[in-house]
Amino acid sequence: IPVDPFDLVIFGGTGDLAQRKILPALYRRFCGGHFPEEVRIIGAARADISTEDYRQMVAEGVKATLNEHGPGAAGIPEFLRRVTYVSLDAREDRGWEPLAAQLAEVEPRPIRVFYFSVGPGLFGPLAERLHRHGLSDEDSRIVVEKPFGHDLQSAKALNATLAAHFTENQIYRIDHYLGKETVQNLMAIRFGNMLFEPLWNSQYVDHIQITVAETVGVAGREEYYDRAGAMRDMMQNHLMQLLCLIAMEPPAKFDPDAVRDEKVKVIRALDPVEPYHIVRGQYNAAAGGKGPDLTYRETVGNPRSSTESYIALKTHISNWRWAGTPFYLRTGKRLVARSSVINVLFKDAPHSIFGEEAGRHANHLKIRLQPNEGITLSVTIKEPGPGGMRLVDVPLDMSFATALGADGKNPPDAYERLITDMIRGNQTLFMRGDEVAAAWAWTDPIIAGWQARGDVPKPYDMGSTGPGDADLLMRRDGREWRGIN
Ligand code: BG6
Repeated sequence: IPVDPFDLVIFGGTGDLAQRKILPALYRRFCGGHFPEEVRIIGAARADISTEDYRQMVAEGVKATLNEHGPGAAGIPEFLRRVTYVSLDAREDRGWEPLAAQLAEVEPRPIRVFYFSVGPGLFGPLAERLHRHGLSDEDSRIVVEKPFGHDLQSAKALNATLAAHFTENQIYRIDHYLGKETVQNLMAIRFGNMLFEPLWNSQYVDHIQITVAETVGVAGREEYYDRAGAMRDMMQNHLMQLLCLIAMEPPAKFDPDAVRDEKVKVIRALDPVEPYHIVRGQYNAAAGGKGPDLTYRETVGNPRSSTESYIALKTHISNWRWAGTPFYLRTGKRLVARSSVINVLFKDAPHSIFGEEAGRHANHLKIRLQPNEGITLSVTIKEPGPGGMRLVDVPLDMSFATALGADGKNPPDAYERLITDMIRGNQTLFMRGDEVAAAWAWTDPIIAGWQARGDVPKPYDMGSTGPGDADLLMRRDGREWRGIN
């Protein structure tokens, strides 16, 4: 179903995110016939370029993202007819009148979405100028990207800045993990099946592991990353969202506040993390020699950097459902494989009728978020053979690509879903202000703790699974990480 007519203004329209993610996602939706004729996309940035130059830039950006699954390049000229450009300055009056004039060309006023694809320092000036020039009304939406603050205090200040001109239901805070098909599937798996929910608690679940491993490093974002580190860049937002979806109570409805109310309760129930339950790492040269790649410190050009490019930690959720079940979370750059996976490890059967020699086995649900999206449930069966009763684990394996055919093979990019939702006015997959603040309230003392101790991250080899201490974190509890691969 096509969305209603809209004008989308992308501040930071010449930037990397706009070119690599936002505009290609708009193009794919456009080609999919999801936009009405009248849509207008206005790039806005400081660069003094013409609409023609901008269209050229957009065409190149879009072409760079095309692949055999999505639409080809044929729709680009038609798409570009909807794209214009305004050169403006967020902190000065330059360019605002031309933008206002362009927006006013269409009557009646369509939905206006203002996408702040800029650093958080510009959120305030943009919000203020939108208001001052009368460009927004109560139906307009603003979209902001992470990082949403650097700590609790700055996040609260940002919330307050935006709240001066917009209500909470106009503010769309993006965590692009929520736009991923498989992440949304966590809710479908949990709340669309009878099978899992009765077992989804500390009585039956031994522990849960959440891994987001990446092979990429930090090149190209050195300055930002060296100030942020894995805790702020990934743990406070993406892993926290995954944790919420896996641990939250069933919301009564799939509606924005019902879902976000439950998520925020999870974050608020998180225990503080003990220092000895945290392992920070920083990538070094690859094992067996330096290799052609730069180490973390070489990449960021800071030989003494103590920023972590890897973090693993153990935490608990203090509520009735989860008391006693540890959650182990880890994420890192330059690891052996790109893999986001959630492992739910069930407890052993209380009594083995086959005797200890048959072997002890526990069920294990593995949810693969990316790549090879799918689910594997390990089930215990009899090992074939005429001998005694010995048990063995076999996988019930489902890949979305096989089960869902073409749709499963080519899931839409997270931004396609999120952009459609912001135009439709559905905030379910966006973070609410109190949710972000709660996540910082949990994160801040952890960071303050290692800063006070002068903690230095443990080196780990590029292409490895992370620092050895992360394995120790598990082994101390008699457990082990389930493979990154
Ligand atoms: C971003 C982080 O939010 O997510 C990056 O800033 C990270 O450091 C990226 O690489 C991971 O996203 P994805 O979609 O590639 O898993």
